[in-house]
Amino acid sequence: MFLLVNLKTYEAGTGDAAVRVAEAARDVADETGVRVAVAPQAVDLRAVAETGVETFAQGVDGIGYGSSTGAIHPGAIARAGATGTLLNHSERRLRLAGIDDALNAARDVSLETVVCANNPAQSAAVAALEPDAVAVEPPELIGTGTPVSKADPDIITDTVDRVSEVSDTPVLCGAGITSGDDVESALELGAEGVLVASGVVKSESPRDAMLDLVT
Ligand code: G3P
Repeated sequence: MFLLVNLKTYEAGTGDAAVRVAEAARDVADETGVRVAVAPQAVDLRAVAETGVETFAQGVDGIGYGSSTGAIHPGAIARAGATGTLLNHSERRLRLAGIDDALNAARDVSLETVVCANNPAQSAAVAALEPDAVAVEPPELIGTGTPVSKADPDIITDTVDRVSEVSDTPVLCGAGITSGDDVESALELGAEGVLVASGVVKSESPRDAMLDLVT
C-alpha cells in the first residue's frame, strides 16, 4: 500500500504549511509502517524533503541542462531531495511524446515515476512507456469527496486489466478518496495504492486524515 499525498497549490499545503503536512506524513509512515509520500510545489521540495518524508515532485520537464528558462529540470528536483515525481497529472497534462521525454529525463537522475491517466485506455498507453506506476484518476471526481473506488469501480478494474496486458506496472488510483473505507475498496479492486489531495490537505488534522486512510 502506497499513499501519495499531492499538496497541489492549496494554501494549506504551501510553504510552512507544506512542512507541517510533511512532518505529519513522516510520523504516520513511521508509526504505521505504511509507505507515505508527499508531493509539494517545486519551491517547497527541499524543506519538505528535509523533514525526512519521502518526497515527490508534482511534475518535471523532459529537458537537459541548458537553455530552458522556467522549466523544472529533474536533476534540480533530485538535488533538492526528491526521490520521485508525478507526471501527466490531469491538472498538468502532457502529450505522449512529452511523457516519454519526461520519463527518460527522470530516469536519468533515478527519480521514481508515477504517471497519471484519465481512464483505462490512457493508463495502458502510458504503461507501455514503463513508468514505475500508473495512477488512474477520473478528472470529474477529483476534489469532489466522491471516491473513484465507489463511484466508478470499473475504472479501476479495467485499468488493472488493460495495464496488465502491456506491462507489470503497478496501478494506483485517485480522485475523491477521503477515508480508509475508500482506500480499502480501491485495494480490493486491484489498486496498489492511492493518490489523495483535498481529503488530507484541506482536513483540520492532516495527521488524523492520513491515519484514517492507512489503518
Ligand atoms: O493527485 C491527486 C488528486 O488529483 C486527487 O485529488 O482532492 O480528489 O483527493 P482529490
